[in-house]
Amino acid sequence: MIAGNWKMHMTCAQAKQYAAAFLPQVANAPKDRSIVLAPPFTAISTLQEALAGSDVQIASQNVHWEASGAFTGEISAEMLLELGVGYTIVGHSEPRKYFSESDEQINQRARASQAAGLIPILCVGESDEQRSNGETERVIRRQVEQGLEGIDPSKLVVAYEPIWAIGTGKTCESEEANRVCGLIRNWVGYPNLTIQYGGSVKPGNIDELMAKSDIDGVLVGGASLEPDSFARIANYEVVTAAAAA
Ligand code: 13P
Repeated sequence: MIAGNWKMHMTCAQAKQYAAAFLPQVANAPKDRSIVLAPPFTAISTLQEALAGSDVQIASQNVHWEASGAFTGEISAEMLLELGVGYTIVGHSEPRKYFSESDEQINQRARASQAAGLIPILCVGESDEQRSNGETERVIRRQVEQGLEGIDPSKLVVAYEPIWAIGTGKTCESEEANRVCGLIRNWVGYPNLTIQYGGSVKPGNIDELMAKSDIDGVLVGGASLEPDSFARIANYEVVTAAAAA
């Protein structure tokens, strides 16, 4: 599953232009992969119209756990479903950092999305400091266990996004990314879980990442903003693990 997280980028007009340039480039993408775009809330409707007739799906960048109410600035699952959204990102390191989102809140968001019929994409990842202190496994395990309490793993995507690799150009070595994704698979205890890697994914490293046994997809930030580069990522080439090593 190849997903592009646009973060706080793209007006409606830009989303429309993007779709016009992107869709012809993925029209013949192999059917073994799903392609997903996560625009800001304001562009969901426009993008949905522009994607009509294609297989590209839409994710939201967040969802609230209540169905409605006095929660200024939040969006409910029902509102997203009405627009044809299929997935929602929860627990991204940016809201964890800037808005102090807790594992408990993230779990509530994930539960509410599943209950409503949206598939949550739970993001987990350690900081540079945590990695240097040898805390990677402890941190990720806590995020996975607390974030996924009461969650059905068959309707879930987990994205391993080491914070130090996000927007920095420093990609996690594919071997290490694969190792952590394998640990996540074991902790969740569901062999068919879809696990993505995220953090400076580019046209130049996608083929190697996708060749790894425990990496089932990618969550792409910066390189998803440019249709040509995201199309190259979506059209990643299947190489054998031996050739990628
Ligand atoms: P970059 O691809 O820009 O490093 O961002 C990754 C990310 O945060 C996707 O959610």
